[in-house]
Amino acid sequence: MSTNPDQAQRPESQRSQRVFVGITGASGHAYARGLLIALAGAGLKIDLAVTSAGAKVLDHEQDVVVEPDGCIPLERLEAWLGKGAAAAIRMWGTGEIGAPPASGTALGASVILCPCSMGTMARVAAGFSSNLVERAADVAIKEKRRLIVVPRETPVSEIHLENMLRLSQLGATLLPASPGFYHNPKTIDDLVAHLVSKVLDAAGIDTKASIRWAGLDGESPEPPPEPGTEPVPYPEGGRP
Ligand SMILES: Cc1cc2nc3c(=O)[nH]c(=O)nc-3n(C[C@H](O)[C@H](O)[C@H](O)COP(=O)(O)O)c2cc1C
Repeated sequence: MSTNPDQAQRPESQRSQRVFVGITGASGHAYARGLLIALAGAGLKIDLAVTSAGAKVLDHEQDVVVEPDGCIPLERLEAWLGKGAAAAIRMWGTGEIGAPPASGTALGASVILCPCSMGTMARVAAGFSSNLVERAADVAIKEKRRLIVVPRETPVSEIHLENMLRLSQLGATLLPASPGFYHNPKTIDDLVAHLVSKVLDAAGIDTKASIRWAGLDGESPEPPPEPGTEPVPYPEGGRP
């Protein structure tokens, strides 16, 4: 454990630029894919864990099969995200509560739950760390690091609203997976890219691929993607 008293004061740029991404059993795994590609394209290292329910939804929505231990083998990550993004990922089983992201001593820039189910959100709001995804979020709260939650549910109950409020009061950014249409999206990838850009902003990550609104009379707010951040096409025929 570091005993350096200056550690907490160090600017974020000097800290480890490792980001933890937790994928849960909410719908919207295209967002997770876009986020992982964008984070890797921005040069960040990623710790990734998928909840058990997340594994089922990932298979259902993205045709990505997660192993029983909660991990996605490298070749499957490469087929899903492209080689560059896959190489940036350190994969953890969600039961691996001894992994570095489970400890506050492992410095990380941000924890991002994308998409975040109402179940995971409730457990994080209650401090109920039953798996690595929830524990990483708990660590972010207690260490006062960035926690970005991308909840996906509709309609929402008062329980959901109360949990969102609780997390917001604890310093988390609540960034619902509710796509905007003011940027005139033409494809699902456009919708995904817009939400991913918002998540990157919340994480303090500025890339040339970030989408900036140029005003109603402005030119297209979407610059061409930075090399390495373009969406990777799905392989033809069959799952990765
Ligand atoms: C196809 C599918 C889509 C789902 N979509 C959502 C959703 O959008 N939001 C949500 O809160 N739960 C959704 N669920 C239910 C969660 O997966 C379920 O509550 C699960 O227990 C959450 O576990 P986790 O929080 O550990 O990932 C979905 C389930 C399935 C099978």
